[in-house]
Amino acid sequence: MRLSHALFFGPLLLPLTHAYTPLSTHLLQSLPAPAQSDYDPHTGALLAPLLIPRVPGTDGQAKAQQHFVSFFRAHLPQWDVLWQNSTSTTPATGDRQIPFANLILRREPPWMKKRPGAGGYLTLVAHYDSKIAPEGFVGATDSAAPCAVLMDVARAVEGYLGRMWAKGEGEGGGGEGVQILLLDGEEAFVSWTDTDSLYGARALAAEWEATPYPAMSTYANPLRQISLFVLLDLLGAANPEIPSYFQSTHWAYQRMSSIEGRLRQMGLLESKAGARPFLPESGKMATDFNGGGFVGDDHVPFMGRGAPVLHLIPTPFPAVWHTMQDDGEHLDIATVKDWARIVTAFTLEWMDVQKTEPEG
Ligand SMILES: *[C@@H]1O[C@H](CO)[C@@H](O)[C@H](O)[C@H]1NC(C)=O
Ligand SMILES: [Zn+2]
Repeated sequence: MRLSHALFFGPLLLPLTHAYTPLSTHLLQSLPAPAQSDYDPHTGALLAPLLIPRVPGTDGQAKAQQHFVSFFRAHLPQWDVLWQNSTSTTPATGDRQIPFANLILRREPPWMKKRPGAGGYLTLVAHYDSKIAPEGFVGATDSAAPCAVLMDVARAVEGYLGRMWAKGEGEGGGGEGVQILLLDGEEAFVSWTDTDSLYGARALAAEWEATPYPAMSTYANPLRQISLFVLLDLLGAANPEIPSYFQSTHWAYQRMSSIEGRLRQMGLLESKAGARPFLPESGKMATDFNGGGFVGDDHVPFMGRGAPVLHLIPTPFPAVWHTMQDDGEHLDIATVKDWARIVTAFTLEWMDVQKTEPEG
């Protein structure tokens, strides 16, 4: 991704109306603790297999794909595993068509499945490809760790969602599901331009927009079903500072920031005590959103088509950004685990599981 100083004139978004109950203290305490055995850079079941070069068209890309698919098949058989594939030439690879494969992992209430286009999806996103140069680059924050976090989030929310839907909660309505997008081809092959970057995201957003549902559906196409596009990128270094980038989704930023604060206060986050909050801009005023600090990333093709975006990327970027030091040794594992807990709680709150969970 890259930093742009240009003003970004995004689409005007209608304010979203999404009422939900804040999670109880009891529920926050009940969240499964992210495990060292998942995040150890050498042996962690979720993270370690991703700390390899994952360049599109290479073996590493296929290994990362197999890691995701076998995890979901083994641990989360209730989730649908879908692909959206495309090919493109790149300025580094001549006439060869390079494959880009986006993985879409979906969980929705059973009644939503029967009516395509009836419900929306909270959409959690990270890219799994790694940069072609420098040779051997593994992109631990960019974005191996965010991908591992999203796998963990899927597993952590499954029990709550399954219980809620088994009780028939929301039956008869359109429904709201969760989808995880593991996108390919985010990185430029030579240098960042509109055509040398975001290969996977551009292909997926265009295809979804061009895939209409039947005329009477609530949503016109899969792109419109994105109730919020939460993009995790460059996460895993210590002391991240995530600005609130968009006024239109500042309310969602505030929800996540409040969850972070509550978890921290309850002693449920592991990163250094007294650390600055990861999401410090809850109090940002409407007049302070001026389009500055926009970071070009996988959300661009979706946002340009009207999707509401919460961009979780630190400013400044981690010091190791796009260097060989962006590896497992330079991750702050406590911070990675904290992201898993924060995003899990945010997802559960968004999905409104509190309604059907005991207050405790
Ligand atoms: C898309 O690409 C993936 C990864 O190479 C492959 O496993 C899958 O079969 C492909 N799907 C389609 C529909 O071509
Ligand atoms: Zn990158």
